[in-house]
Amino acid sequence: MSVSVVVGAQWGDEAKGKVVDLLAKDARYVVRYAGGSNAGHTVCVNGATYKFHLIPSGILHPQATAVIADGVVMDLRAFVAEADALQVQGVDLSRLRIGLGVHLTMPYHRLLDELEESQLEGRIGTTKRGIGPTYADKAWRIGVRVADLLDRDRFAQRVWRVLQRRNPTIQRVYNATPINADALIAEFEPYAERVRPYACDVPHLLMDAAERGEPILLEGAQGTLLDLDYGTYPYVTSSHPVAAGACLGTGIAPNRLREIWGVAKAYTTRVGEGPFPTELTDETGDRIRNRGREYGTTTGRARRVGWLDLVALRYAARVNGFTALAVTLLDVLSGFDALKVCVAYRLDGTITRDFIADAPTLARCEPVYETLPGWREEIGDCRTLDELPPNARAYLQFIEQYVGAPIRLVSVGAGREQTIWV
Ligand code: GDP
Ligand code: IMO
Ligand code: MG
Repeated sequence: MSVSVVVGAQWGDEAKGKVVDLLAKDARYVVRYAGGSNAGHTVCVNGATYKFHLIPSGILHPQATAVIADGVVMDLRAFVAEADALQVQGVDLSRLRIGLGVHLTMPYHRLLDELEESQLEGRIGTTKRGIGPTYADKAWRIGVRVADLLDRDRFAQRVWRVLQRRNPTIQRVYNATPINADALIAEFEPYAERVRPYACDVPHLLMDAAERGEPILLEGAQGTLLDLDYGTYPYVTSSHPVAAGACLGTGIAPNRLREIWGVAKAYTTRVGEGPFPTELTDETGDRIRNRGREYGTTTGRARRVGWLDLVALRYAARVNGFTALAVTLLDVLSGFDALKVCVAYRLDGTITRDFIADAPTLARCEPVYETLPGWREEIGDCRTLDELPPNARAYLQFIEQYVGAPIRLVSVGAGREQTIWV
């Protein structure tokens, strides 16, 4: 394995959690490299469901050390709630490590995200988890990090400094109640002790492990089309979910990456605002949403659904350099006479196979579809490609050929065992 990355190939929720859990059985380290508690990754094992927001989905494997690397932003309230819930489920958290450079998502970040989202104009449809404001403070160099949290005086100084800048905005721009610095500092004192046992120098931990050739699995959150630079800006998240972001977020050098797994649903979903060329707002869409239980893991919002957009998927393959594809939720497509896949966009009378990331332009694109025959059989019990209906195999072949990356895993249900290795 050496160093492998798992990247969302669409707009998030591609079942990265399931794929990471599967690949983590051989990993020495499983590492979250970007995003924060906006992520919701689900793993289903032996009838139990585990939900991860900040803690890597590979932690269920006893040989794996789970690492929250410096590219992640961490909400301590969310972290404690998640850690407590996992411990109740019997998950051993002693193998967790948290980077000293991790930026903290503070209550004022969440508040600012909520206040901004409450304005109708310019709404992104964020998860309201404070992600944008946290990364903004990081870029503005007024952020507060885990290393600050562990030093009482330094933490107090940083919080005072940032609130001098953020409170006037909260008060004057949004007409909301400013945050009391002293109360906040007092609230966070116990969090320091909760985090201290896990805190470490993550770049050195991972560089050393990579030099020793130990298997490292890097777990992406969100998806390529939500990337701050390569997604449909401004309808994106504020981090870099793409494979290159895995190097930035962990300190692992690009030449160490061996396998780059792209995870894609057999159709497309999106949560929040922004263009979505293959979106289905009719009863076909409702049928896919119901079969796929397309309601958010983090916010419970109904996900927008649509046909598979191969133009977008090929773009993701090129941006990330996928060496392997995992196609997930294929079982959801059983029961359709015909399935459409988008093979090009029509824009102002011209046809293009190149994805258009500019949001207003993408909104004007019409999908050009190819129609493939569907299959009636339920496939949740299939464990080899040969057991799949011929039309399901043909559907997968079509994807592989169009995208130009090999399908090495097919998921036919949420359970760990509902997997076809190719
Ligand atoms: P992530 O954010 O990429 O990890 O994906 P989510 O966990 O947010 O959403 C994927 C959902 O699909 C979860 O509820 C999974 O349990 C479920 N799931 C994963 N793989 C499959 C599959 O092959 N078929 C079906 N029907 N559900 C799946
Ligand atoms: P996982 O890891 C799906 C979307 C939000 C919104 C945009 C910006 O579970 O795949 P943010 O809160 O990040 O500022 O919101 O990004 N979004 C996700 N959509 N899955 C996710 O994570 C997402 N994380 C953020 O819905 O459109
Ligand atoms: Mg999710």
